[in-house]
Amino acid sequence: MTIQITGTGSALPEKIVTNFDLEKLVETSDEWIQKRTGIAERRISAGETVSSLAADACRKALEMAGKRADEVDLILVATCSPELLLPCCACQVQEMIGASCAVAFDLNAACSGFLFALNTAYAYLHTGIYHNALVVGSEVLSKLVDWKDRGTCILFGDGAGAAFVEASAEDIVRDNGRRAGMECMVQGSDGTKGMVLSCAERAGNNAFIPENPPENPYIHMDGQEVYKFATKQVPACIQDALDRAGLAVDDVDWFMLHQANVRIIESVAKRLRADIARFPMNIHKIGNMSSATIPVLLDEWNRKGSIKTGDRLVLSGFGAGLTYGASILVW
Ligand code: UT7
Repeated sequence: MTIQITGTGSALPEKIVTNFDLEKLVETSDEWIQKRTGIAERRISAGETVSSLAADACRKALEMAGKRADEVDLILVATCSPELLLPCCACQVQEMIGASCAVAFDLNAACSGFLFALNTAYAYLHTGIYHNALVVGSEVLSKLVDWKDRGTCILFGDGAGAAFVEASAEDIVRDNGRRAGMECMVQGSDGTKGMVLSCAERAGNNAFIPENPPENPYIHMDGQEVYKFATKQVPACIQDALDRAGLAVDDVDWFMLHQANVRIIESVAKRLRADIARFPMNIHKIGNMSSATIPVLLDEWNRKGSIKTGDRLVLSGFGAGLTYGASILVW
């Protein structure tokens, strides 16, 4: 059996916000942001929504895979910033693209969301419950960001990426002898550190208790704690996934990491003793889009032809929860 990605797509808001624009909002500088994060600009919604961006990304992924929307079995949208609590974003996407036969639901694992959704799709496809899935990461974080907090507002951006995943009964072997498709996955969560990166929803409020609005309804982050967690946990879980698959770092062509900070990615490369050239990055122009970063990066590298048939990829996400994971697949 082969479970592989056969189409990718992405969608970004048109509005570009540069570091110089942020200099006008908070006490910061383009120099500080670039040096500490690698980010120069990000896309910010001027009306685009989590569902509209997700639907655009899905249409592109389906087009690449040569599939019609009514052939989709499952839609999984990873998001922590839906525009509606009900219905879920995946059902909105189903309606928007006309995926009339699909089962659709959301999944929230913050910046690990796309990876966890991909692994969930894998489980459904591997057991034969469904034969294909649209897996999406979509975020409009700009509405959750405190634009007065220089510690967070410089990091985040909006956007969506999607992958169409298909199962086929036969094993597909590439010219280089590698078996195509998903090979191995590792996932982890540490709820004890949940509050180092959090964002409140509505506080308890009903007919029987006084109104109790959250003190801070925006993203709150202890950046250094998240940084320490990421630089330790991400290389460890990538190594764990490689060990489980019986592979070495040199067997991997591309390490596609969640785009949170260039320094985190450089640190992971160093700890794994892997060439940084094998860690694609696009954070400088789109910032941290939580669950959307990995599928947007995947789509960019796929569309420009950088990923060749038979290449081995490690996808690795990490973020609020805390959550982390790594998946290995052959293109
Ligand atoms: O998606 C997953 C979740 N997020 C992450 O992965 C984020 C992980 N953390 C980080 O990327 C980094 O911790 C940050 C980029 C958020 C912050 O970088 P840092 O090197 O850890 O900076 P810091 O928090 O240690 O702050 C250093 C200094 C402080 O000033 P003092 O106390 O040394 O005078 C901050 O107040 O930099 C100051 N600072 C800023 N200065 C200019 C913090 N933010 C800014 C800013 N502009 N935007």
